[in-house]
Amino acid sequence: MTKRKTLTQFLVEQQRLEKAMPAQLRLLIEVVARACKVIGHTVNKGAISGVLGSLDQENVQGEVQKKLDVISNDILLEANEWGGHLAAMASEEMDTLHPIPNRLPKGEYLLVYDPIDGSSNIDVNGIVGTIFSVLKAPPGTEGRDVTEADFLQPGREQVAAGYAIYGPQTVLVLTVGTGVYAFSLDREMGSWVLTSEKLTIPARTDEFAVNMANERHWNEPTRRYIGELMAGTDGPRGRDFNMRWMGSMVGDVHRILTKGGVFLYPADTRPGKENGKLRLMYEGNPIAFLIEQAGGKAFNGTCRILDIEPQELHQRVPIILGSSEEVDRLDEMLKDRVAA
Ligand code: AHG
Ligand code: MN
Ligand code: MN
Repeated sequence: MTKRKTLTQFLVEQQRLEKAMPAQLRLLIEVVARACKVIGHTVNKGAISGVLGSLDQENVQGEVQKKLDVISNDILLEANEWGGHLAAMASEEMDTLHPIPNRLPKGEYLLVYDPIDGSSNIDVNGIVGTIFSVLKAPPGTEGRDVTEADFLQPGREQVAAGYAIYGPQTVLVLTVGTGVYAFSLDREMGSWVLTSEKLTIPARTDEFAVNMANERHWNEPTRRYIGELMAGTDGPRGRDFNMRWMGSMVGDVHRILTKGGVFLYPADTRPGKENGKLRLMYEGNPIAFLIEQAGGKAFNGTCRILDIEPQELHQRVPIILGSSEEVDRLDEMLKDRVAA
């Protein structure tokens, strides 16, 4: 059997061959990958170690926090504080940024993450994941405290992004700007081994992912677009489509990276929900980076997600991403260039 390449070998090669990988970035990715191993192990223990269920507290999003949200957040904090590769961290589960303590060496990167994506799946043994995004700290931060404004960079500035998916297999999916690679966790060896190279999203798909319960709250072009998919051979698309919705963006995105599809969490006409539910800095941007690196598209209804200039750390963003033919079609309908 061919000897599989480990994450470490892959990263050393990226450093040597692709010049995509300064040593500090390689260290950061190794530390995050190791933390995801610990999170995956903790998720897998579940009820045995009493990590299921909710806490009696809300996060800055106004969502009740699951025990695993906070446990996983702290695993990533503790793993990354001492390494000397980060200037600061931010997370879905923390109100504001977490600076590297002055007693510890600081580095040139910023890490933003969603420690558990798909929290509503935790107690029902559904798919969950961890999403992470790496930015460079702006010049001059070495001499001062990092501020939230330092994080507010458009997604096109990311130097790495990825997710771990905790499912039947535990898989780390990563890009450093040279394509999308997947590493499966070999539990016997405790190492991440390369199992997919250059994942590619087909332009054409017959599968969509959206939470239909919100359908009445979407704008008219979005309702019309989804209506056409539902109409299948009886409608203008002339072919049938299939629907999947996993309640975890990581789960739906992993399917799209593996076989194609389109994922939507649209803008909502209800007050306060104009930007949908998902968060730009640690869901929209890292996933959009992966999707584009795999040849797909990621768009918020008016522009490329990676071009959005963030205004605040936890801002939300409408999301349409995946197979380019479908993203383009909805783009056209939203811009009203296609006759109704
Ligand atoms: P999180 O658990 O980090 O809050 O993310 C959940 C997100 C996303 O992963 C998923 O696609 C979406 O919420 C599901 O939303 P609904 O529960 O509204 O379907
Ligand atoms: Mn999430
Ligand atoms: Mn989350």
